Amino acid sequence: MEEILSQVKAYSEEITSFTATDADSLEQFRIRFLGVKGIVKAMMGEMKNVPVDQKKEFGQTMNGFKQLAEEKFTTEKERIDLMGGGSSEQIDFTLPGTPMPTGSRHPVTLMRNRIVEIFQRLSFTVAEGPEIEDDWHNFTALNLDENHPARDMQDTFYLSTDPAILLRTHTSNVQIREMEKQQLPIRIICPGRVYRNETISARSHCFFHQVEGLYIDENVSFADLKQTLYFFVREMFGEDVKVRFRPSYFPFTEPSAEMDISCQLCKGDGCAVCKRTGWLEILGCGMVHPNVLKNCGIDPEKYTGFAFGMGVERPALLKYGITDIRLFSENDVRFLEQFSGV
Ligand code: DAH
Repeated sequence: MEEILSQVKAYSEEITSFTATDADSLEQFRIRFLGVKGIVKAMMGEMKNVPVDQKKEFGQTMNGFKQLAEEKFTTEKERIDLMGGGSSEQIDFTLPGTPMPTGSRHPVTLMRNRIVEIFQRLSFTVAEGPEIEDDWHNFTALNLDENHPARDMQDTFYLSTDPAILLRTHTSNVQIREMEKQQLPIRIICPGRVYRNETISARSHCFFHQVEGLYIDENVSFADLKQTLYFFVREMFGEDVKVRFRPSYFPFTEPSAEMDISCQLCKGDGCAVCKRTGWLEILGCGMVHPNVLKNCGIDPEKYTGFAFGMGVERPALLKYGITDIRLFSENDVRFLEQFSGV
């Protein structure tokens, strides 16, 4: 051990005092110390000869040694590169630089971030789940058993080798995954991509994005649900937005509702976008069904909660005046760069 350490010390001194004269000498340094058959590797290999009680200390010394060599290499490389690789050719630092185009966020990301950020202000935290999901988390645990008719509305893509594995049809799977952890209370917002076996058109696509919300605690009521969502739409669309809840059906909530907002384009007068109704549906919601709580090992006598799920593309279309959902996934830079200042 002593002997190895004194060798390491000598090599360290050599590294510290090294200065590369050109790209070749730097390369020789790299091969000598950091190469596959280099000194650092060889010294590290000595670990096997070190007594067990000294291994930790030896390991630390060796990590420091490796770092020293790497840092030296990096700083010398930067210096040599600046000198033009050590060749006699001089760089003219007064030449204009090569412009780097700055990218911009995708409109779906912008909308997703806006939604998430509003709920974060209400102390919701972000949770994510897998896009490749099993049948339990996507359907069964959400109270949709195998023969449930609602499964047809969400036909998806299955793996031919294992029909129990599928591409998730909604972000509601994250509800189950978080509830299974049983760390209550739960107050989460879950953005993500989802898939459906649908014909692609200007209004629908085989993949799109959703944001799911879930709040589970003692004494959570439908009034909390309404107030939370009302706060959200006012922050998102402005103070004068109106909301209405229509009774609906989802297997995983009871009671269930769909929430509409007054059409932001015609301000409720009726236009083509709201199909002359003055209202736009933006999300589904409800009180978490007791069966769902039970499926996740949560006592429905003690805990209640609400959940909601909304699409991201639809509000993005409205907000940015886009008329075709396919533009979101065509990756046409001429379309995407229009959002750079947003
Ligand atoms: N998962 C539903 C869908 O994709 C949306 C939804 C409705 C989510 C009601 C919810 C909910 O959490 O409570 O159509």
